[in-house]
Amino acid sequence: MSETDDAASRHTPVLLQRCLDLLAPAFADHDTAVLVDSTLGMGGHTEGVLAAFPNVRVVGLDRDTQALELAGRRLAPFGDRFTGVHAVYDEIGEVLEDLGIAKVQGVLMDLGVSSLQLDERERGFSYSADAPLDMRMDATTGQTAADVLNTYDERDLARILREYGEERFAPRIARAIVAQRAKRPLERTGELVSIVRANIPAATRKTGGNPAKRTFQALRIEVNGEIEILENALPQSIEALAVGGRLVVESYHSLEDRAVKRAMAAGATSSAPPDLPVEPATHAPYLRLVTRGAEEADEAEIARNPRSQSVRLRAAERTRDTPDHMLPSRQTRPTGRRAE
Ligand SMILES: C[S@@+](CC[C@H](N)C(=O)[O-])C[C@H]1O[C@@H](n2cnc3c(N)ncnc32)[C@H](O)[C@@H]1O
Repeated sequence: MSETDDAASRHTPVLLQRCLDLLAPAFADHDTAVLVDSTLGMGGHTEGVLAAFPNVRVVGLDRDTQALELAGRRLAPFGDRFTGVHAVYDEIGEVLEDLGIAKVQGVLMDLGVSSLQLDERERGFSYSADAPLDMRMDATTGQTAADVLNTYDERDLARILREYGEERFAPRIARAIVAQRAKRPLERTGELVSIVRANIPAATRKTGGNPAKRTFQALRIEVNGEIEILENALPQSIEALAVGGRLVVESYHSLEDRAVKRAMAAGATSSAPPDLPVEPATHAPYLRLVTRGAEEADEAEIARNPRSQSVRLRAAERTRDTPDHMLPSRQTRPTGRRAE
């Protein structure tokens, strides 16, 4: 198998055709349109866009250097129509500034982990193989899952498991983690799986798949600061859009979808006080919702690609420019960003 086939076989893009259909009107009528694929991953969505729209150039962001490398090889046949950048997606503003791009016609976000990350056992994302407790999407920087488990206090651990993992037995598991680490710091995913198993009632253990699934999801979200970064990235992404440009987001967790729904609703709602006789232009909505609520995958897609089971897809179109001060300001954070 070639390396290019490898990238394609490692991750099947979710709702690809629907994403292309939603982006198409934003690319029409442009000699050259630009899409930012904020979650490049294995480059599946980007490849679909580059193949379907010859007038589109894609800037692909990923915080995972391994993903960038694999996707870069897969997309090499498209030449300079593809630019890969090592960045966290709330840095979209700085990335575009560095590339000399003022506004873009589309931003695509396919959130969460890729199948590559789950499959690479040494990266510690999976509860089904024993590995170091890492779980960083960007393996070059930041805290690991072991750091979180060995340093957070019991209350914070319980909160993370409950909020990000919807784990009913969060307090019990958190207590057991703290008791275990008092003897010896946790290092391996296998140790965490054993703790979770031992602290979930036998009746619950029999249902709902691997009992460690929720704990692993929660830790991954905390290690990578996923919700906070997403909340920061959404206004930056909207700000990057030209009028007529579209933001398309695929979420896999209720907190992600809630953040997307809120950011889109805020832009699609007038901010004028209700008692004003005439709506000032500065208070008019700057987004138009393109999807009705959140779209889900149908049975055929779920059968083809089980990852699509939990997807929630939302899209919105930029309807007017806004003064910069109307959107939350850009957060700056040191990074090791580099063009590939
Ligand atoms: C679900 S995968 C994307 C798959 C891709 N659409 C495809 O078809 O191959 C999500 C990717 O986004 C990346 N990612 C997640 N959070 C990120 C963030 N805050 N900034 C940049 N990349 C991020 C992950 O490293 C992962 O490679």
